[in-house]
Amino acid sequence: MTIRVLKTTFIASALAMALAGTVAAEDTKPKDAAASVKKVGEVEVLHWWTAGGEAKALGVLKEMLEGQGVSWKDMPVAGGGGEKAMTVLRSRVQAGNPPTAVQMLGFDIRDWAKEGATANLDDLATKEGWEKVVPEALQAFSRYEGHWVASPVNVHSTNWVWANKKVMDDLGVTEAPKDFDALISILDKAKEKGITPLAIGGQPWQEATLFEAVALSTGGPEFYKKAFIDLDKDALTSDNMKKTFDRMKKLRSYADANFSGRDWNLAAGMVIEGKAALQVMGDWAKGEFLNAKKVPDTDFLCYRFPGTQGNVTFNADQFVMFKVKDDQTEAQNLMAKDVMDPKFQIAFNLVKGSVPARTDVSDAEFDACGKKGMKDLAEASKGGTLLGSMAHGYAAPAAVKNAIYDVVTKHFNSDVSADDAVKQLAAAVEGAKE
Ligand code: BGC
Repeated sequence: MTIRVLKTTFIASALAMALAGTVAAEDTKPKDAAASVKKVGEVEVLHWWTAGGEAKALGVLKEMLEGQGVSWKDMPVAGGGGEKAMTVLRSRVQAGNPPTAVQMLGFDIRDWAKEGATANLDDLATKEGWEKVVPEALQAFSRYEGHWVASPVNVHSTNWVWANKKVMDDLGVTEAPKDFDALISILDKAKEKGITPLAIGGQPWQEATLFEAVALSTGGPEFYKKAFIDLDKDALTSDNMKKTFDRMKKLRSYADANFSGRDWNLAAGMVIEGKAALQVMGDWAKGEFLNAKKVPDTDFLCYRFPGTQGNVTFNADQFVMFKVKDDQTEAQNLMAKDVMDPKFQIAFNLVKGSVPARTDVSDAEFDACGKKGMKDLAEASKGGTLLGSMAHGYAAPAAVKNAIYDVVTKHFNSDVSADDAVKQLAAAVEGAKE
């Protein structure tokens, strides 16, 4: 692990130097190299990457830009799914003072572009050939009415399980569970041994992340699409959806008493320390394992949520560029360009737990989970089983997403029945649709 981290730091530094076109060749004293970099300007970046692994990944970008004469003004707003970040963004835009770049997901990007708040990156995108290398599923959001407004930095997927290898060995579990019942049998074994079976972070976006995996496992990709993308009433009230809610209640019974309100990285920490058997979470969880110097297949295992093999629910972090003053556009363009640099995409995603947002990047440097992630993504994309994550804003607009969050959370944390939950779900979605 240490080697990987060092390597990544090296890649980042080397990358910064290589891309710092202004580091003069005649500058013979390496010590003075930084001082000789022309000051390009500043980028103010709004994001919610505040967990250890996330901050480290962001550091790769920051370091690279600083090496090119761009100073970094950090604007972190903690809170998964970016909900809080979007609220802060709203007040900044209303005050006529937007940040340079904002981490953003799916439908939120469209909303801001529709408002006319975003910059136009078409010249850069054409020059760099983005159209040919960014997967179509991402371009559908990076571009608004054909115009590029964002640089996608990664592709995450949400239907993953992260398990503590030693705990699994102790429980006698030798292979990844293939379906929901096999998962339950592992959770039962952990319970018998007195280990918290499931590390849950009880926050709406995390419960929704679990919910979409359970729904996909229960009803398959067609059902997922009908329910969360087409927002079809029959799917929302179907037996599959009822079963999904029942399964959520069952999973809740494997959480510890303190799950309410817990941050996702603390839940990951429980698995890392062997206090819990497993966590269902997007692959940003891998960033936490790596940050704790844990090694895939040795210390932890990654596999698709049982019953969702062959399907990928994706979310991609994109840096949306906002309309800024003329003296800030050079730094902004440099950031947009760097984010899409193939070497950067490798260096960043090795640390973040995600996979590159370009189809032309080799998987050679990625670990076992990363290689699997890239392979799954390519196959799902070809086979029509690449689905936008509902919980992370890639299936439906924010209003619908939030309406689903409310119903899922209420059901998960109360004694609302599955029959009532599906009725509430259909009504909430109907009311939130545009
Ligand atoms: C983002 C990830 C982030 C996670 C937890 C997701 O919505 O896409 O990049 O690590 O939230 O903060």
